[in-house]
Amino acid sequence: MPTPNFDKPIENLLTQLSTREKIGQLFQEKAECEDREDLRARIRAGEIGSLILASTPFAGNETQITLSVEDLNELQRIAIEESPHGIPLIYGRDIIHGCRTVMPVPLGQACSWDESLVRECSAAAAKEASARGVHWTFSPMIDISRDPRWGRVVEGYGEDPFLVGRLGAAAVEGYQGDQLHSMKQNGHLIACAKHFIGYGASEGGRDYNTTEITEHTLRNVYMPPFRKALEHGCLTTMSSFNELNGEPPSGSHRLLTELLKEELGFAGMIVSDWAAVTELIAHGIAANNSEAARIAINAGLDMEMVSRAFLESLEDLLETEAVSLERLDDAVRRVLRIKFCFGLFDDPYTAIRPEALEITPKARSLARRAAAETSILLKNEGSTLPLSPTAGKTLLTGPLLNVQKPLLGTWAMDGRGADACAYLTAFTDAWGPEKILTHETALMDQGLSIAHHHALNGVDQIVVFVGEDSSRGGEHYSVSDLSLPPGQVEYVEQLAAVGLPLIVVVTAGRPLLIERILRCANAVLYSFHGGIEAGRGVLDALTGSTEPRGRLPITFPRATGQIPIYYGRKNTGRPWSNAYVEQLPSPLLPFGFGLSYTSFECTELTLANERISNTSDSIRASVHVRNTGERSGHALIQIYGHDPVSSLSRPIRFLCAYQWVELSPGENKDVIVPIPVNRLGFYDRNGSFVVEPGEFILYAGLDSNAKLHARLRVD
Ligand code: BGC
Repeated sequence: MPTPNFDKPIENLLTQLSTREKIGQLFQEKAECEDREDLRARIRAGEIGSLILASTPFAGNETQITLSVEDLNELQRIAIEESPHGIPLIYGRDIIHGCRTVMPVPLGQACSWDESLVRECSAAAAKEASARGVHWTFSPMIDISRDPRWGRVVEGYGEDPFLVGRLGAAAVEGYQGDQLHSMKQNGHLIACAKHFIGYGASEGGRDYNTTEITEHTLRNVYMPPFRKALEHGCLTTMSSFNELNGEPPSGSHRLLTELLKEELGFAGMIVSDWAAVTELIAHGIAANNSEAARIAINAGLDMEMVSRAFLESLEDLLETEAVSLERLDDAVRRVLRIKFCFGLFDDPYTAIRPEALEITPKARSLARRAAAETSILLKNEGSTLPLSPTAGKTLLTGPLLNVQKPLLGTWAMDGRGADACAYLTAFTDAWGPEKILTHETALMDQGLSIAHHHALNGVDQIVVFVGEDSSRGGEHYSVSDLSLPPGQVEYVEQLAAVGLPLIVVVTAGRPLLIERILRCANAVLYSFHGGIEAGRGVLDALTGSTEPRGRLPITFPRATGQIPIYYGRKNTGRPWSNAYVEQLPSPLLPFGFGLSYTSFECTELTLANERISNTSDSIRASVHVRNTGERSGHALIQIYGHDPVSSLSRPIRFLCAYQWVELSPGENKDVIVPIPVNRLGFYDRNGSFVVEPGEFILYAGLDSNAKLHARLRVD
């Protein structure tokens, strides 16, 4: 997306602003300040460039301030009419997976492997948020996460750099739209690719923790999604909380300036994460706020979120030349450019439209489709599913049967529990009370005796809803053990012992340990927190009225101790060695896995050419696939590369391409998948991108264990 040129008005403003006002542009204040009068006075003085519409850190899991459009317009009026140069404020808020219409969490959206769905969900969120006066969202989170203990695994798109990059870029497009100059009028938001960088590698899955990432892994795993989001026009990025190889990114010139701004050519604005500048003191690289400010601004950070190191110290630092005027002006230019691009100078206010604050039928129906399609069918023995309301009586039970807020997911600041459709409501509305028996109990053994009782009294099948509340994940909430909360697996096992068909719906914000559930249940459907339409969406998937099309964007381990476990691992020098004495080396479920109500078979992979010399070309792979079942369905064809010999060891497989194809029963197709040859490349020892000549193997199939293969020679 070409950025319009606003150099003239920006330079014009720069010549007029006082140093204090320039510093003000680099400060993002909390909208909820104890002293409202003081907030207004500071806006009036031009000392605030932006407001974050949140009250506390780790905002996703706490109740947050909601300012009315009237309040926001009034603060904006002060900035425009009463501050010395009338520069509008920019309002930021974490609009992560929906706004009032809460969509499935990002990890859930990632199960779609569908850019258009992610784009639509992000655009719908932007529309609602922009009607509330928000200009800027702190999303998408494109941290690679390979540790489901980390609570924030739920906010990202999973473990794979290629998939995360594609879906992150789609989110950017959904938020920002494709016309920069009309973003605001069209109900779009400025996006923010976060967290730069490496945050997802936190030691032990402990939030905010230390990360150690080699140059090789940084470039090949953690950076590609950022590269992609920036290529798709993302206007802002956020520096992360973690320290990386001894350097917190918020204070790292190498990361922010050399890598992000120079190497990736990022011309937008970098905002710190919440108080991450002052946190340089806790990291032990600054003694006080003045040092923290000097380090951060010289590193290339442009705006400080909520802490006040810049405000307190930049004037002195300029005076002593510890910070140059050029750097200050560069940061101010970047902030102003965002405000100009977004159209804030032309149109600073938000129209008051109470109707736009309500959930529209269109948004609800998107949320429902998203919740249904992203559900992942993990087991379906003897076609237990789809469920049929005519199948007799169904016992519905389990701790997540009749909950609302826990289905929303972690970042649902504008969502309301009351808007969420519980699983029980969905069933009751669709089937009527006579078809179902329910048993809600906190005491699992009591639930069990009821199940036994019903087995004797005309119940034909059981659907049990287990999993975790959304507040068990997200920022600041990690777990040391991926087991389900106590008692749930035992309950499922005992229900299985009743002997009726047993369907288990697991709702969670991360991969949980479900081996025992998979073993004893007849069917298992997994849903990452599905948002306000989780109830109806999951019911649609269970009945097959919408096809559950989820495919895992992250590997499911058998045991917590296997972490990190991901498909793109290295072969090692001893691939034959047992990883553990008491555990299988393989994961429980591979990346890319997901069943369908029909079945597919991939029988042939052919490449249009076996040799290629121009690395800017694409190879045409053709995969022969057949629907071997009795229903129509969508197959996700996945193609993985393998580079047997290269100058640096490479992952045993890397995702190169994927494509959905719809097939009716018995239908065969040769699916043509174009694979740009540069998908086979990597960043070498010198940080250069190379496709090294030699032989490659391409694998095709329905998950990351794909067996079909073909060889390709790159000259
Ligand atoms: C989170 C960010 C978020 C910011 C603002 C931080 O605690 O790490 O992802 O955007 O708060 O709420």
